[in-house]
Amino acid sequence: MDLQNKRRVVSGVNLVEVETTKQLESIISAVSRGLLQTPKSLPCWLFYDSVGSKLFEKICQLPEYHITRTEEQILRTKAAEIIQGVSQGLSLVELGSGNSGKTRLLIDAILERQATLHYIPIDISSEFLLQSSIQLLTEYNRLSVTAMAAEYQAAMPILAQQSISPALILFLGSNISNFDSGEASVFLQQVREHMSPSDRLLIGVDLVKETSIIEAAYNDSSGVTEAFNKNLLIRLNREIGANFVINQFDHWAPFIESESRIEMRLISRVDQSVSIRDTGESYDLSEGEYIHTENSYKYTITHFNEISQAAGFEIEQQWQDERGWFSVVMLCPRSSKET
Ligand code: AVI
Repeated sequence: MDLQNKRRVVSGVNLVEVETTKQLESIISAVSRGLLQTPKSLPCWLFYDSVGSKLFEKICQLPEYHITRTEEQILRTKAAEIIQGVSQGLSLVELGSGNSGKTRLLIDAILERQATLHYIPIDISSEFLLQSSIQLLTEYNRLSVTAMAAEYQAAMPILAQQSISPALILFLGSNISNFDSGEASVFLQQVREHMSPSDRLLIGVDLVKETSIIEAAYNDSSGVTEAFNKNLLIRLNREIGANFVINQFDHWAPFIESESRIEMRLISRVDQSVSIRDTGESYDLSEGEYIHTENSYKYTITHFNEISQAAGFEIEQQWQDERGWFSVVMLCPRSSKET
């Protein structure tokens, strides 16, 4: 991949912007490809423009969206224990950092043990990443921040060139849920390849539970998830000249048990045609036809452990909440235990 990095310092934050494919041309090609599929689909990374990132923050605070709260509760009670098991003199890397909300619990625990900390959040929403990083610097005077606006795959090789080991790499919020199992394995292997023996990967994983609880989290009563889902269409209208009529779509996110996943859908309320100015293409949707915008997989501990081990990790430790809804897993690159 041909990567162009722009580096600058903004309000004390070292900002690295990695220009990769998720720019205009890739929006166009993802949309052209996805809308020709049956069922029609759009990739979930399109959710995260700055409005989408703010809506996602709101989702995390919803009473129905148990994921954030449950993970936070585990981190709140176990942060010291989690950090105890990792080498001293750590750097902290976070893939998909969002507003770094829960990360503060780990930052606090690390700063109990060491004088300073280099934090490297990585997120595709550059503006949001920068704001969150500036905010962190105002809260912690012993922190330095290198914020990388990049996709994870592009960021990992760049990170591997810096001397940040020993590093604790965070992949929280069950972000792994949005990969299918093939993608999750590839992702874990890629991260593994760039890790040194003393590095660790801490992953938050949402677990399978009662369907009604899972579905409520993605079909909330205040309509925030609906707005998040529909914002993707608003974004395409703005950025590539699509003409989606937003109120001609309904949001629905069923749990598909056979796949162990939530499917985020936008269902056409009428027979309609949508055209895209920048590609000159148009697409027909019949009443009831849906556009599939996201998968969110729910794991069993056994399944998650299997894919982690297959990707070259050993499970070092695992924490769960009392209800068994969520798991936080510390993964160790296998060769580091063998040597
Ligand atoms: C980011 N990701 C883990 C969220 C999830 O739960 O799959 C995205 C999301 N989609 C709808 N609500 C939240």
